[in-house]
Amino acid sequence: MKTITCTAPVNIAVIKYWGKRDEKIILPLNDSISFTLNQDEMCARTTVAVSPSFTEDRFWLNGNSYCSVLFAVFLLLVYSIVLSRAYISVRRRASKRKLEGSIEDILNWHVHICSVNNFPTAAGLASSAAGYACLVYALGQVYGVEGDLSSIARQGSGSACRSIYGGLVRWYKGELDDGTDSVAQPIAPPDHFPNLRIIICVANAGRKKTGSTDGMRQTVQTSRLMEYRVKESVVTRTEAMMEAIQDKNWSTFCDLTIADSNEMHAVCLDTFPPCVYMTDTSHAVASLVHQYNEVKIARGDLNHKVCYTFDAGPNACLFVPGAVVKEVLALLLRTFPPGPSQSPTEYVKGIPAQSAT
Ligand code: PMV
Repeated sequence: MKTITCTAPVNIAVIKYWGKRDEKIILPLNDSISFTLNQDEMCARTTVAVSPSFTEDRFWLNGNSYCSVLFAVFLLLVYSIVLSRAYISVRRRASKRKLEGSIEDILNWHVHICSVNNFPTAAGLASSAAGYACLVYALGQVYGVEGDLSSIARQGSGSACRSIYGGLVRWYKGELDDGTDSVAQPIAPPDHFPNLRIIICVANAGRKKTGSTDGMRQTVQTSRLMEYRVKESVVTRTEAMMEAIQDKNWSTFCDLTIADSNEMHAVCLDTFPPCVYMTDTSHAVASLVHQYNEVKIARGDLNHKVCYTFDAGPNACLFVPGAVVKEVLALLLRTFPPGPSQSPTEYVKGIPAQSAT
């Protein structure tokens, strides 16, 4: 029997991936940049075991068990096509090694996979990214696959390829039709912006109405604004973001992060029918951040600005310099008091953004 357990944290995009040029192997229309969170906080933990004594393939997700018949259905439907794609891709690479005679037996054994997220699944909190990155990495370890795993993780859920690495990561869209150059690469270490914290404001932990695959498809098919984003604005902004990261220019990093989140949600609204992910609460959080930043700008304190970004859901991710995290948490708690059943610490939680992954 061979068993491997891995954890992979979620990543939060500061330049968003939104729109595919190839839905089958998941090739994006633009490059994206993200920050992979701390290993101990929002993460997926996956154990992969292969054994000659297993009589069927089994899969557990967040405690729910799926046995072999359901496993196939499950592969097609839920976590899905994606899990099977990742599994097949890893095994395909492993088969190359089989020819070398090293892992012949393992490839014939059944596999058990157990995956748990320690945060809400499919609520626009990048759960799929952590899940697939973790799965691909764990399978890769079991079958001894070498080389770039980000292109396999990408075929699970696009953003998963960025969770393979820690710190700031860029996913290059690539130019080739076979996707071999559509890979993620680390661009700066986790502590690049020292003492950075991330606050996740959960406005709604339920499942999102329109999943990112459908949302992206509808946007690409119907939004004229999306054409402008893909051809012009996101290209320029990505290069500006690279420069801001290189120069450690926190103020510009914040402005670009906010601008890109707003543009992503603008193209979603420009979709027909519109994809609405942000709620009144989301807009209230965004507005609070702008008011906070105005005060910092007026004081010439640009290094203590805060930025927000929203994925395909209503929950805000705030990037907050450590020195002002208490002040920002206090402001959030005063503006959005917790309900009677929530303790303040459960309600908003400051997460260290920087630690090795
Ligand atoms: O990887 P997906 O299919 O879950 O899409 C993720 C899209 C966003 O989270 C909204 C943006 C991003 O770059 O992560």
